[in-house]
Amino acid sequence: MGAGILGIGRYLPEKVVTNFDLEKMMDTSDEWIRTRTGIEERRIAPDDLDTSDMAYFAAQKALEDAGISASDIDLILVATVTPDRPFPSVACMLQERLGATKAAALDISAACAGFMYGMVTAKQFIENGAYRHILVIGAEKLSKIINWKDRNTAVLFGDGAGAVVMGPVSEGRGILSFELGADGSGGKHLYQDEYVIMNGREVFKFAVRQMGESCINVLEKAGLSKQDVDFLIPHQANIRIVEAARQRLELPEEKMSTTVKKYGNTSAASIPISIVEELEAGKIKDGDLVIMVGFGGGLTWGAIALRWGR
Ligand code: UT7
Repeated sequence: MGAGILGIGRYLPEKVVTNFDLEKMMDTSDEWIRTRTGIEERRIAPDDLDTSDMAYFAAQKALEDAGISASDIDLILVATVTPDRPFPSVACMLQERLGATKAAALDISAACAGFMYGMVTAKQFIENGAYRHILVIGAEKLSKIINWKDRNTAVLFGDGAGAVVMGPVSEGRGILSFELGADGSGGKHLYQDEYVIMNGREVFKFAVRQMGESCINVLEKAGLSKQDVDFLIPHQANIRIVEAARQRLELPEEKMSTTVKKYGNTSAASIPISIVEELEAGKIKDGDLVIMVGFGGGLTWGAIALRWGR
């Protein structure tokens, strides 16, 4: 028995903010943003929609997709760096709102790698038999911790949420291998004071190196090679960073998600948001080998090799 994805859902706020909208707010240009980041637009949540609301909508869809009810959930893990408040956790807020009465609940703080940390944590509980159904959510309202006067960061981020229900799947399906890592000495390159502070160039170098290495490592651990990869879902930070990962795996363009164009960097939510996008586009099919890889503030990273299907 393995641990895999039984259902998935996402929520994106309706309001689209284009690069042209940002041109009116700060000294930037559509041309700069597109060529340096690949981003064309992002979604921004209204004041009355917080992280827990987006997480709730995504979770409801994932439960429906999995065909299970909230009362079947044993554990809720929410990866976020933008909880509604320091405590109670977003996970506890959802536990109540979903009616997941028997579920334990906690938030995970691993920045943009948080969803990978959440899925790998869920895998352990499922495989050792302690829990059967685990809701893993990546949800962020980054717009509330962005300094809208800082063009170095303001153009990069967006809001949204993605959720999966994880549970037992048949042998050979689900998570085949993983890697998690952290380097606290790099924490100074990306952190929140009042707002997000980032040394873009340092994070860029780290991301390019780490994403490529982690992809290769999870393939090796699973006894597989680059040629076996059917689809790559990298954390959507910057088109140049994800392109470097694609080239490292020698994958054709159509085998990698590039939702950063439409949604910007949604931190912990970017991987599950992208999975939904690609499933809906018919790009991920039953039996496919999907590699997911993320990196973020901490610094943290994580990658998963997953055989799609139940
Ligand atoms: O989830 C993890 C979160 N973070 C990341 O993944 C970020 C990783 N880093 C990056 O994606 C890139 O480093 C950035 C997109 C942030 C920046 O791209 P870059 O090619 O590294 O540009 P740069 O920082 O070297 O800046 C080049 C120039 C600078 O001007 P000068 O000093 O050369 O005159 C910046 O001031 O571009 C300027 N600049 C901008 N210009 C217009 C920086 N931001 C902007 C902007 N619009 N929004």
